[in-house]
Amino acid sequence: MHLSVIGSGYVGTTIAACFADPGHQVTNIDIDESIVDAINAGDAPIHEDGLPELIEQHAGDDGTGRLRATTNYDTVLDTDVTFLCLPTPQKEDGSIDLSIMEAGAKQLGATLADKDDWHTVVVKSTVVPGTTEETITSILEREANKTVGENFGVGMNPEFLREGTAVNDFRNPDKVVLGADDEQALADMYDVFDPLIDDTDAPVVETDTRTAEMIKYANNGFLAAKVSLINDIGNICKEYGVDAYEVADAIGLDDRISEQFLRSGIGWGGSCFPKDTAAIRAAARDEDYEPLMLDAATELNDRQPERLLSLMDDHVDVANERVAVLGLAFKPGTDDTRNSRAIPAIEGLIERNANIAAYDPVATENMRDHFPDIEYADTPKAALGGAVAALVVTDWPEIENLHDEFDAMATPVVVDGRRAIDRRDGIVYEGLTW
Ligand code: UGA
Repeated sequence: MHLSVIGSGYVGTTIAACFADPGHQVTNIDIDESIVDAINAGDAPIHEDGLPELIEQHAGDDGTGRLRATTNYDTVLDTDVTFLCLPTPQKEDGSIDLSIMEAGAKQLGATLADKDDWHTVVVKSTVVPGTTEETITSILEREANKTVGENFGVGMNPEFLREGTAVNDFRNPDKVVLGADDEQALADMYDVFDPLIDDTDAPVVETDTRTAEMIKYANNGFLAAKVSLINDIGNICKEYGVDAYEVADAIGLDDRISEQFLRSGIGWGGSCFPKDTAAIRAAARDEDYEPLMLDAATELNDRQPERLLSLMDDHVDVANERVAVLGLAFKPGTDDTRNSRAIPAIEGLIERNANIAAYDPVATENMRDHFPDIEYADTPKAALGGAVAALVVTDWPEIENLHDEFDAMATPVVVDGRRAIDRRDGIVYEGLTW
């Protein structure tokens, strides 16, 4: 099949490259020429494990030629199905800003006005229930001067890829959710996903677009709340001197609980859990429903960084002293610092007048935009040298493997928000929930 993917962010670029792999012809459309040029040169525009190899294989000079990038929307006309992967940024009140999606749908609709054959548009971006059916479809109908179900179809296919393991997650999905309000759109989505479904035996959830949209929020809301619940339990464990990880290992043996997403610590960040929980909470309030559990999950998450800082305060006064922050990415395996727990941790250190020395193997440049005035060290050892405390925020292997480097600290107080470091002689160690 010939697919177009509008948007070259984390999701758009990853799925464009992954769809090319089983044999689809894919055109990735983005307004950013530097991203388009990078892809066409066979280079990955983002840091994502396995993506450089895929882009080189399908877009590089000696590649299969199955992946091309362009700024030209007219290329949609040569394709059968278009995936909309545009950003939905968060507004002040937590709700999502649909303006980029609406502008993309408008341009897509105007382009489709020139297409005689059937075309299916699939919304991939995370949007609140009803957005595909009401907002996106009506823009497409108006701009293309066509009727949904007659000349074109619309579907919703939520994404469950995790940053850092997105390529692997694409190839081994737990489920494929195909939301469609008409039969031809559903059939087209099957044609796109059949190679993946056949290869993996992944269960397929066939549903309407509104339910598909809600499944995405429910999935992320549930996982975020699960981490907040284990953090809540972990905080209680810490008060009793009990190791929350030993407790989590035991409760994870219960199939009804499962061992996944039971790592307690400084909490969840990234572009998805914080934004999606905020958006569905705001949407629920619009419907006059108070989302008590998701509110509490968020409040608990907001408090974890301060708990880490107060453990540090118990050991050392950091005013005018050097403090190392180990890890800036919101999790290992990515350079993404959006909503990273390092941000509130650094803000708390700034409030305490500490001199901050931060280290991350790949996310330094992204964090520099947020905090231009703190020191960024090239190695963990350089960050630790002369520090009175170290905060562990991201469990990168480079950080988990630290040993003698702590000897360079003025006072070796290590406060660990991710259970990355082993308790050992020679350091004063505090784990957040153990
Ligand atoms: C999340 C979901 O896991 C994906 O299924 C979804 O597709 C994606 O959001 C999205 O909506 O696009 P992601 O944000 O990449 O993926 O990262 P996760 O691996 O889920 O981690 C999220 C946060 O939770 C990280 O800050 C991580 O450190 C934290 N976390 C996760 C914990 O603190 N403890 C855990 O046990 C697991």
